[in-house]
Amino acid sequence: MRTLTADLLVLGAGVAGVYGALAAEARGARVLLLSKDPLPSGSTPWAQGGVAFPLDEADLEAHLQDTLRAGRGLVEEGVARSILEEAPRHLERLLAWGLPFHPEPTREGGHSRPRVRHLGGDRSGLLLLQGLLARLRGPVLEGHLAASLLVAGGRVAGAYVLSPEGPLWVRSGAVLLATGGLGRLFPVTTNPPGATGDGMVLAWRAGATLRDLEFVQFHPTALPDGSLVSEACRGEGAVLRNARGERFMPRYDPQGELAPRDVVARAVFAEGQATGGVYLDLRPIPRLEERFPSVVAQARALGLDPLREPLPVAPAAHYAMGGVRTDPRGFTGLPGLFAAGEVASSGLHGANRLASNSLLEGLVLGERAALAALEDLAFPLGAEPLPAPLLDPGLLPALRARMGEAAGVVRRGEGLREALAWVQGLPLEEGLPGALEARPRLEAGHLALLARLLLEMALLREESRGAHFRQDFPQPGPEAYHLEAQGTSLRKVPVGV
Ligand code: SIN
Repeated sequence: MRTLTADLLVLGAGVAGVYGALAAEARGARVLLLSKDPLPSGSTPWAQGGVAFPLDEADLEAHLQDTLRAGRGLVEEGVARSILEEAPRHLERLLAWGLPFHPEPTREGGHSRPRVRHLGGDRSGLLLLQGLLARLRGPVLEGHLAASLLVAGGRVAGAYVLSPEGPLWVRSGAVLLATGGLGRLFPVTTNPPGATGDGMVLAWRAGATLRDLEFVQFHPTALPDGSLVSEACRGEGAVLRNARGERFMPRYDPQGELAPRDVVARAVFAEGQATGGVYLDLRPIPRLEERFPSVVAQARALGLDPLREPLPVAPAAHYAMGGVRTDPRGFTGLPGLFAAGEVASSGLHGANRLASNSLLEGLVLGERAALAALEDLAFPLGAEPLPAPLLDPGLLPALRARMGEAAGVVRRGEGLREALAWVQGLPLEEGLPGALEARPRLEAGHLALLARLLLEMALLREESRGAHFRQDFPQPGPEAYHLEAQGTSLRKVPVGV
């Protein structure tokens, strides 16, 4: 078997993975960075909204309060505060590296002030990632997919990887998971095709804890094919109307179109059901093509002209607030395993992520996790891969339809139970595939496994909070708690523990 070795193996080449790799390289570590898709890969280049940085010392407190308000009692306040306190250092560094941030910040939903810094209009994630990739010294191995972690005596020691040249063992002193989210579990999503929750499953199978998977943020304004119409458009004056032409958001929230994302998503869903459709009118935005080139191009690709007509929009699965539980340094609790970015649940986002906090989290936690990993490198003997879940990818359309129906913007116990029974009946197999051609079976296996865990959590959470809305339990419960799955145990854990 072909074998490579590294101090730090980074899985995923989005903002968290690349920034983490840069931090480790700067310390002289041998870093191996794998990307399952060609660069620029992951969800980062799809991010239109920018990076939320507190404007100054005084704004730090306001940014924190906005984050806490959006997260509905589930944000780990100490983690959030420490990330925001570190933010200016990263902005300074990125500016010194020449990243082309717009000087004027933008306002997005849930933010009390304009503090979101964009790059290239709505091409923020792409330009940020390109800027980071340009500074990497080591290569990124594209088309390399980790099918399993190597584990020895409870310590993670690398990964079993499928590559275009066949299977490969990577032995490493530590692993940083930065594999992104699970949006492809849903029929309509703003996420790229690779968002199949791989890292969450790898970590869980190795013994790490998955937290709060039921909290999936639905972006309120996606075009019919799932392409995003950035919230920044509403920040710049775009208006939502129902099929009767009525502006409805002020009826739902005093912040109107800029209410927190869960509020807008539910309102768009309800108005769509009640009137037959919802439209976003971008025509009030001055210099639309210059400000939002991606939005305009995506709309035109669907035969729509945002300069002349309102765009049909609906909610789409956008961001996983839950993921692999980590401490504030990105440590998963499993020796040798660290996680950062959307794959992780660091405690910043709670029940509903504040817009544009995630690229910031990717930067801060990507660096912290990589540096923490370097403090405890070990190369245990006898590390072996674990079997991976595999499923016929032909079953994915049905799985996604079930998830959209049962675990979408509005959920009910009965629907969740039915979907769970169906998912439990899926013919999930176990094995270690030997070739990259198995990628669709592996990704489908990951999604099926995560569907089961997500549905179990959504059923157990008999309340509505943030992005998780249960019609049969429409209010938040008296206590705020996380849900954590480790092995076969699923338990409620108070916030702050
Ligand atoms: C957007 O541009 O609306 C997305 C920003 C985000 O999800 O943080």
